[in-house]
Amino acid sequence: MFDFPVEQNGVTQEKLLTLIKNTIKFSVKTGHRYFVNQLFSGLDPYGLAGQWLTDALNASVYTYEVAPIFTLMESAVITEMCRMIGPEWNDGIFCPGGSMANGIAIHLARFNYNKSIKKTGMFQHSRLMLFTSEEAHYSTQKFASFIGIGEDNVILIETDEVGRMLPNRLEEGIQEQLDFGGVPILVVATLGTTVRGAFDPLNEIAEICVKYRLWLHVDAAWGGGIIFSQRHRSKLNGIERANSAVINPHKLLAVPQQCSILLVKDKNILHACHSKGAEYLFQKDKYYDQSYDPGDKYLQCGRKCDVFKFWLMWKAKGSSGFAKHVDALMDAAEYFEEQVLARPEFRLVSKRQYINVCFWYLPRYLRGKKDVLEHSIQLHKVAAQIKGAMVKHGAIMLGYQPLKQFPNFFRFVAQNSALGRKDVDFILDHIADLGRAIYK
Ligand SMILES: Cc1ncc(COP(=O)(O)O)c(C=O)c1O
Repeated sequence: MFDFPVEQNGVTQEKLLTLIKNTIKFSVKTGHRYFVNQLFSGLDPYGLAGQWLTDALNASVYTYEVAPIFTLMESAVITEMCRMIGPEWNDGIFCPGGSMANGIAIHLARFNYNKSIKKTGMFQHSRLMLFTSEEAHYSTQKFASFIGIGEDNVILIETDEVGRMLPNRLEEGIQEQLDFGGVPILVVATLGTTVRGAFDPLNEIAEICVKYRLWLHVDAAWGGGIIFSQRHRSKLNGIERANSAVINPHKLLAVPQQCSILLVKDKNILHACHSKGAEYLFQKDKYYDQSYDPGDKYLQCGRKCDVFKFWLMWKAKGSSGFAKHVDALMDAAEYFEEQVLARPEFRLVSKRQYINVCFWYLPRYLRGKKDVLEHSIQLHKVAAQIKGAMVKHGAIMLGYQPLKQFPNFFRFVAQNSALGRKDVDFILDHIADLGRAIYK
């Protein structure tokens, strides 16, 4: 159906146009409000215009000299985001996604534990240990492996009935590792877990980090955009006590992919941990103040400009525009949960904390049963079968997954504030129709 191979000679303009049209035709329309499959969706016109402009200017944001507007703009946006978190916050970097930002936070935590590792490596060191919850994003394990700490040295702490890390289990875990000669260095707490949208109890976790002198990183990749909403900001309480935090404007705030910001309290640590001082870029005798060059506090060299689309959206709507967007999404999720509770063909997995609503579709023979988990084997197949029919039909796209003891369930998430109550009804009706057709 699609002409993938590339050849020695180029094709005609007509053929290229057909290929472009087919690329659009066969791609998933993630800007559609019924794309509720992932933690990114929607298509903001200001964001798209911003993306197009930076692509047209093709800037690389490492020196003031080649990107004067974008380096200053990054600095302004990072300063404002820091101010929104707390008075002690001072610096930040744009990252190619939340996973990478979490990885860089691990790198900072290790540097904070021992600065000499930057030069000498890890071979003389004890087993460094990281802690995060069993419902946290997998990137902590990936990057623990990547930087030589090892996946097995990430301890996954038990969560409660709605998905929040249990602080007493965290302290037990830290104590246990200390008894076995491990060296705890970092706790990654999550504000808005990927599947259930849970918010870890930050203040209690921060106390433990102070007691054991651990770096506290907050993965607010999904939940952090709530910082704009006066109605919901309190969910982030305690974030100011952390050492670093990631917020992904490309998730909740619907900034086009990708836009992710790692913020830190310590003004100097990004530069101290990452700098190499390459003299072909960061000459010591520049004609301007070298501190205007952000490049050396990054791990990357050449870097795409991710700030402009975010800044343009912010400028166009104001902070109040982002607040309205967040509040509308929270209202839609509240209505979604109410409908799931009201309809006999659906069952809520656990109480909603955020925009994520997790639910099962129950075939008729499971409805009214007290404990549907006794029928886990049958229930596990339901979401996968309905999803197959859903994608073939093509009207909506919604994700599913298993989690801990729970068999496959659907997860509703939205970042497109065009989605209203009628759309929620449509989505649930559509799943019910597909379910009825499969389980007659
Ligand atoms: C809580 C959390 N952290 C980190 C990430 C990774 O972010 P990214 O997809 O931008 O790498 C995700 C992705 O869904 C997430 O849900």
